[in-house]
Amino acid sequence: MFTDTHCHIYEEYYPNIKEVLANASASNVTRFLNNGCDPKSNQEVLNLITKYPHMYGALGIHPESASNYQEEDLTALEKNITHPKVIAIGEIGLDYHYTKENKPAQIALFETQLKLAEKYHLPVIIHSRDATQDTIETLKKYSVTGVIHSFSGSFETAQIYLKMGFSLGINGVITFKNSNLKDVIKNIPLENLLLETDSPYLTPEPFRGTPNEPKHILEIAQFVANLKNISLEELSKITNENIKRIFDI
Ligand code: NI
Repeated sequence: MFTDTHCHIYEEYYPNIKEVLANASASNVTRFLNNGCDPKSNQEVLNLITKYPHMYGALGIHPESASNYQEEDLTALEKNITHPKVIAIGEIGLDYHYTKENKPAQIALFETQLKLAEKYHLPVIIHSRDATQDTIETLKKYSVTGVIHSFSGSFETAQIYLKMGFSLGINGVITFKNSNLKDVIKNIPLENLLLETDSPYLTPEPFRGTPNEPKHILEIAQFVANLKNISLEELSKITNENIKRIFDI
């Protein structure tokens, strides 16, 4: 049994969510951590976790919304994070890939949500793109841990995050032929890894080019199991223990 620890299961991407979850279950992917990224998707995550017993939620405002959220969106976020199936704050972080111009706004939004994580003792799910240094410096100001989602950095960066108590979320990127990630992950202890799809993005090989779904955890798991020279069963056991330790599910 595997868990998809990072997906975006919203109706705009998946008209038939029930079927997507059933297809995942048929591939032994039986639990889902659905990540919100703006007020609308956060509300949808809340609706879906109420409806589907094996789906859990993370609520957060993504850095891409740093310049267009309202103060009341944060109030709503805080009100809803005590929902029993909301197990993390995410996805939150910094993204300088498309713009650095709103850096101060991104950092302010990130810090506000890190404070919430501290206050409610929730783990965080971190998005960091082209912003490693600022992400590390900002995280260090708060007493939080969690997951560096879609980790694709160097071994040295990985070591910094592990020392800070973070785990690394590994997705389809590791299966890409032009990715160096496998050489990094080979040397990272399994106890620090989580499997995720980031559906509907980042579909693993050999399905690259089609929309991603949680069922593709299986291809990522097989790739990591081969890389680590262990069985799928062993990988399932260790990653589920990691999930229990981080998210308490
Ligand atoms: Ni994501």
